[in-house]
Amino acid sequence: MIFTVAIDGPAAAGKGTISRAVAERFGFAHLDTGLLYRAVGAIGGDPALAARALAPADLARDDLRSLAAGQAASRVAVIPEVRAALVDFQRRFARQPGGAVLDGRDIGTVICPEAEVKLYVTASAETRAHRRWLEVGGDAGQVLAEVKERDARDMSRAEAPLKPAAGALVIDTTAMTADQAVEAACAAVAAALRAHR
Ligand code: CDP
Repeated sequence: MIFTVAIDGPAAAGKGTISRAVAERFGFAHLDTGLLYRAVGAIGGDPALAARALAPADLARDDLRSLAAGQAASRVAVIPEVRAALVDFQRRFARQPGGAVLDGRDIGTVICPEAEVKLYVTASAETRAHRRWLEVGGDAGQVLAEVKERDARDMSRAEAPLKPAAGALVIDTTAMTADQAVEAACAAVAAALRAHR
């Protein structure tokens, strides 16, 4: 069975939690595509070369979750050559037999517009910054400023800007618990699976 769940949305909206839960519930493979851009940003040097040479060990670095790595990721993510180098891997992952969940910024718009389920997971900037602050700590005002700066860059770039894909179900998690958001996503996947079989 080829079945892709594409999950896009801004920073710290809950994509990771939802993606992991959907993958586990339905037995699908999961790819956090943000890690690809975080790794390219962390490697340094020429970002296009880093993207072309990206290896599994690069994704296992323990410094990819920091605020600085998120900023570096969104700076290299505007470079068309970087995005192009990562497309084939993501497309193959999306269409592998057995089902796949990918979360990122352009999965439903560019990587896999034919995905059987497209979700756009979002929340207010304040809510998202608070969640990120609970993860990374530090100065709450700075975390909010960085979330807003990264959103603005991701949404305004020329190449694969962040926006809901055509036909995407929007899940606003501002007033939801993690469990409620997971259940909303799983209900959409279950309905699409029934229609698919
Ligand atoms: O976890 P969080 O939502 O904060 O970020 P992430 O998903 O790890 O993505 C980090 C950065 O990589 C984003 O701000 C985007 O600039 C970029 N990215 C992208 O351009 N396209 C993707 N499919 C995934 C991430």
